Amino acid sequence: MRRAACPGSFDPVTNGHIDIIARASTLFDEVVVAVGVNAAKKRLFTPEERIDMLGEACAGFANVRIDSFDGLLTDFCRQHDVVAIVKGLRAVTDFDYELQMAQMNSSLADIETVFVPTSPEYSFLASSLVKEVATFGGDVSALLPAFVHEQLVRRLSERGQGSR
Ligand code: PNS
Repeated sequence: MRRAACPGSFDPVTNGHIDIIARASTLFDEVVVAVGVNAAKKRLFTPEERIDMLGEACAGFANVRIDSFDGLLTDFCRQHDVVAIVKGLRAVTDFDYELQMAQMNSSLADIETVFVPTSPEYSFLASSLVKEVATFGGDVSALLPAFVHEQLVRRLSERGQGSR
């Protein structure tokens, strides 16, 4: 059994995340989507909301499950017999930071990082940008599963932001 982790904040999950998770699920026997729940970081959605949205978004993948972690990703990988961390690379601008994290993680534990190039249609997609555009009323409905978009619009409207 070769198990991989797809770590991230997923605040919220986008179609770009789902593309990477789907492709990781064809490369490994099992994929654990590991939601970082660092309480120090301010998020739009709670860890439970992010986990629930991921569960619904990944329901069609038989070998994908959702979990969360607080602390070092390498500790989570050790505890769950994860042999590889899968990260999407959108552009060369992602590379420096991702390489640094991959090398740090491999210095902390016996773990490989596998970089998967983002599909071109998602190369500009980031949760932070989606939230920013939606906050100012931009239409991001094509970039997220419909039910995630609904939750995003609802959350922003609770805060008096967004308009679509
Ligand atoms: O979606 P993000 O915000 O890019 O996800 C970043 C995440 C959660 C994958 C990364 O910050 C992480 O691994 N955090 C856990 C703490 C840790 O292990 N830090 C050392 C990284 S080298």
